Amino acid sequence: MRNFSSRISGFHKQSLDQRIDTVADLTGLDGTAAAHLRDTGNLPPETAERMIENVIGTMTVPIGVATNMIVDGRDVLVPMATEESSVVAAVCNAARQCRDSDGFVTSTSGALMIAQIQLLDIGDPETARIRILERRDDIQAICDDMDPVLIRLGGGFRDLEVRVLETRSGPMVITHIVVDVRDAMGANAVNSMAEALAPHIAEWTGGRTCLRILSNLADRRLARARAEWTPEAIGGESVRDGMVEAFHFADADPYRAATHNKGIMNGVSAVVLATGNDTRAVEAGAHAFAARTGRYRSLTRWEVTNDGNLAGVLELPMAVGLVGGATKVHPTPKICLDIMGAETAEALARIIAAIGLAQNFSALKALATTGIQKGHMALHAQNIAMMAGAEGTEVDTVAKALVDRGQVRIDVAEEELARLRGN
Ligand code: MEV
Repeated sequence: MRNFSSRISGFHKQSLDQRIDTVADLTGLDGTAAAHLRDTGNLPPETAERMIENVIGTMTVPIGVATNMIVDGRDVLVPMATEESSVVAAVCNAARQCRDSDGFVTSTSGALMIAQIQLLDIGDPETARIRILERRDDIQAICDDMDPVLIRLGGGFRDLEVRVLETRSGPMVITHIVVDVRDAMGANAVNSMAEALAPHIAEWTGGRTCLRILSNLADRRLARARAEWTPEAIGGESVRDGMVEAFHFADADPYRAATHNKGIMNGVSAVVLATGNDTRAVEAGAHAFAARTGRYRSLTRWEVTNDGNLAGVLELPMAVGLVGGATKVHPTPKICLDIMGAETAEALARIIAAIGLAQNFSALKALATTGIQKGHMALHAQNIAMMAGAEGTEVDTVAKALVDRGQVRIDVAEEELARLRGN
């Protein structure tokens, strides 16, 4: 058991090198581990230090490219950053199988973000609500004054919603400002507006304002994708029907829906991460949206068209941007966006929705037929082989032996590696 104090005075002021030394001293890291941390790969250390606090290294994950994707009639290559095997291959397969039916068609509801202002200690909440609604023009002016650049780009305040909420702390009056944030993710823009507006709301109503923050349930910023697969392309009508039944299962049961939606987010979050966007914001929005009817349900919907094709649709909040944050600072997202050819936040959101739908297609197809382990095992076997110590060409040889034996386990990998090395 190590014994040290984690109260490290001035740690944040140390250089990255010093911090690595400090952590190594305290925790007993050896020179190899410290050298590993010093190698920040393709993220320059000075950039990493501007992104977060107390930096001691970087974490690299593979970026794979999803091929075969046709989105709105255009072929696109989509970089996906993920640690999970099979995720990229799943998208490639789904996209290949709907190329004959023209790929994915996408749309959005616009780039509208919501920020909330909480008003408390109010005896007449219904009157306060109307008082706030009466101030729509003032509210627009206060919000738009906060961000002249956004206004120049055609964005700014768009709508006002005020709700009375019964809570355990008594009635609250919740103001929503709805703002067109154009190509930004929009958190900074709407949070600044909400903070500027709050004192005015307190003054107009005689109440006390407290929280002023965006909502990640960005249901005025939806991305949508749809696609069709012919029965011939997917292995027949029984496969199609099994996939629809799998969707019905997810839509009826939150235990299944959580896994079903996790699969969708395998694709969505991988593109969100590759483009330097906020994975947690998108995930929170997706799951809250999935529960909007009061029950947690599937984010996709699957049905059979009059022509007998399998049709899938996905609709979810998509708060992603091209300006600001890691997307601009980190060198990799810019390259990923160039590969994708996404020149607006809306274009990016649409591609992400298509990827989410493709991901769900492949998961449902595998689950309704062979099960997911078969496709998963080839790459997983390589991971297991490496965990057992296989190097270079040994990795493929051991992995193949594991798959052939149908036993992708660490103990079997160690045994195969020992056999290969002749001991
Ligand atoms: C694994 O990461 C994702 C799946 O479990 C999704 C699903 O079950 O639909 C395969």
